[in-house]
Amino acid sequence: MYQKMKNYYSPLFLKVIICTLFLLSVSACKSYNDSKLSTNTLRVGVALYTQDDTFIASIVQNLEKLARENENDTKNLKINLTIMDGRSNQTTQMDQIDQLIRRDYDILCVNIVDRTAASVLIDKAKESNIPVIFFNRQPVAEDMERWENIYYVGSKGEEGGVLQGQIVLNAWLNNKSLYDKNNDNIIQYVMLEGEPGHQDALLRTEYSVKTLTDNDIAVEKLSSDSANWSRSQAATKTSEWINEFGKQIEVVFANNDDMALGAIDAFTEAQLDIPLIVGVDAIEPALDAIKSGTLYGTVKNDAVGISNNMMELILILYNGDDPKDKMQIDDEHYLWLPYEIITR
Ligand code: BGC
Ligand code: CA
Repeated sequence: MYQKMKNYYSPLFLKVIICTLFLLSVSACKSYNDSKLSTNTLRVGVALYTQDDTFIASIVQNLEKLARENENDTKNLKINLTIMDGRSNQTTQMDQIDQLIRRDYDILCVNIVDRTAASVLIDKAKESNIPVIFFNRQPVAEDMERWENIYYVGSKGEEGGVLQGQIVLNAWLNNKSLYDKNNDNIIQYVMLEGEPGHQDALLRTEYSVKTLTDNDIAVEKLSSDSANWSRSQAATKTSEWINEFGKQIEVVFANNDDMALGAIDAFTEAQLDIPLIVGVDAIEPALDAIKSGTLYGTVKNDAVGISNNMMELILILYNGDDPKDKMQIDDEHYLWLPYEIITR
């Protein structure tokens, strides 16, 4: 027995071992170099609540631009973005996500239709070990806790509301004689709300007005209704209000720019003076309207910042690094982008 053991360490045996190790290391180097030369494809599935949304379209446009830029930077990486249109239907979107999971995509970016319906989606992604980056439409907090590889990139609806309220507050304090048409020291306003249940619709509606009342400004709501983020629906709604309240309307709060532009359309159509109208987003046509003086102000919802953060996160996850080491992530899951006031 002892004799047998000893034979393992004979010079010949050692030579064989050394040669084998050498050959193994050469072949390892070779395959490493091969993979360096060949192109790696990063496949990202992007599921949108709908493609017919101006703000979402601007995020997607920028994501596509970033994908091309990052391909150039790291020459052996190809980034495939597959964009899916959920057509405002959660069942449709879930089918699309099932497809992406079945095709083993590397990362999912989800602009969820129904923000209360994230749990099933998260569980499926977790089972297949595919990280999910939610954006713009924020799942409820408990769902975000279901897995560590779940992220949300967006802005705080509450902050958008506060800044929108500040725009109106400053205008009112600086030029009350112009805006207080009936001289009663009260702001008569209407509120164009986004989609019911959307965090930004709820919070912007609440905090814009709260900012005024917190500053001891008296307000009177003439009316409010949802126009689903849509310019045409907002124009229709505002025309109704113009018929009902006419010149009594002193301020129009719109939860986003598209609806603010719809309100401007309605006042223009009715050939009435345009009251103080404020939006959120800072989309291109809204910036033009601010320049021409029809829109008083907006709050920039940072589409470029959102997409930049998403792409950074995508690349970190793809490289197998921990995003928490490289980015500012709050409560383990959240990447927040600040809002910014824009007036003339
Ligand atoms: C934007 C809206 C957009 C909505 C879609 C909001 O944050 O302000 O313009 O329609 O998100 O989810
Ligand atoms: Ca008044």
